[in-house]
Amino acid sequence: MHDGFDITARIAGIGSYLPERILTNADLERMVETSDEWITTRTGIKERHIVAEDEAMVDLVIRAGKAAMDDAGVDPADIDLFLLATATVEQPVPASSSIAQPALGVVNAACLDVSAACSGFVYALNVARQFIATGEARNVLLVGGETLTRFTDWTDRTTCVLFGDGAGAVVLQPAPAGEGILRCAWRTDGTYKDLIAMPGGGSRIPPANPRNIEERLGFIKMRGNEVFKVAVRAMAEISQDVLEQAGVTVDDLALFIPHQANLRIITAVGSRLGIPTEKVYTNVQRVGNTSAASIPLAMADAVAEGRLQRGDLVLLTAFGGGFTWASALIRY
Ligand code: UT7
Repeated sequence: MHDGFDITARIAGIGSYLPERILTNADLERMVETSDEWITTRTGIKERHIVAEDEAMVDLVIRAGKAAMDDAGVDPADIDLFLLATATVEQPVPASSSIAQPALGVVNAACLDVSAACSGFVYALNVARQFIATGEARNVLLVGGETLTRFTDWTDRTTCVLFGDGAGAVVLQPAPAGEGILRCAWRTDGTYKDLIAMPGGGSRIPPANPRNIEERLGFIKMRGNEVFKVAVRAMAEISQDVLEQAGVTVDDLALFIPHQANLRIITAVGSRLGIPTEKVYTNVQRVGNTSAASIPLAMADAVAEGRLQRGDLVLLTAFGGGFTWASALIRY
């Protein structure tokens, strides 16, 4: 069932944080030409949490990361690797993981940001387990944190109804093969790089370039319809691959936690895989698309609701800008 590593990584603790402010579909109706009915039928989303004026991505990461370390009963000083999956860095330099390090107290950890858009958390899980398998790391803090609403064009109704902010975190520790992460797969196809993108503010079109303001290039641009079709196919395929490699079927799964992008994508992937609706976890209705935070936020909610319990087999599958996609099978 497992992937040949003698040692693998288990989830020793989990935590999450959502900013207090809630933006409802009714609020959005007052901002752009949209309706609760359109947003609900096309996406399933009813509300999302958004950061306050004085809050930034790292503030959410610190709250979620501390909660996960408390849950694991780990001293922050014992964390030797801190991975932060995000597409919405606090600033280009230094890495957001470095910025969060002092407040988290992970003073002995190497700090690394992982950039794979909405697949960032599952990508970082795959990174973490390699370091644990080789004995290079014994306590990994992995946080998926995002403030997509800071990069949202509030005049673009095709994107501004989709996103929310939040952070979810896990602590990973060594475990014998057959427990914890059993299988991971990850893929990238850069030919789709323009379908979900924030084109401005990097080295090609630096922040001071007037085009950033004139053409609104610092905001998320997405060709949603084209993304949708590839996302469903790719998520189903990679999930199937991971299940087959592990020699398990959907009947063995206690829960499927897909990236919470859109209820229609989630339903379509679940039905392609033949997973009964009651085994497909969703919280997108309450949080919107939180990118790299989406899967750990959903996991934390599933644990809090008693839907994910110790010993359960859970499949995580993500898809995002790049395109990137990834899946992990875990004995929780
Ligand atoms: O997290 C990374 C992965 N990203 C995703 O998974 C997003 C994937 N894509 C989607 O979820 C969907 O494509 C959307 C929810 C973004 C859009 O749904 P859709 O069914 O693909 O709609 P559409 O883009 O084909 O637009 C249909 C119509 C258009 O009007 P016309 O041209 O048919 O007259 C849009 O202008 O809906 C219109 N529209 C809206 N109407 C009311 C687009 N946005 C809105 C809106 N309110 N907010």
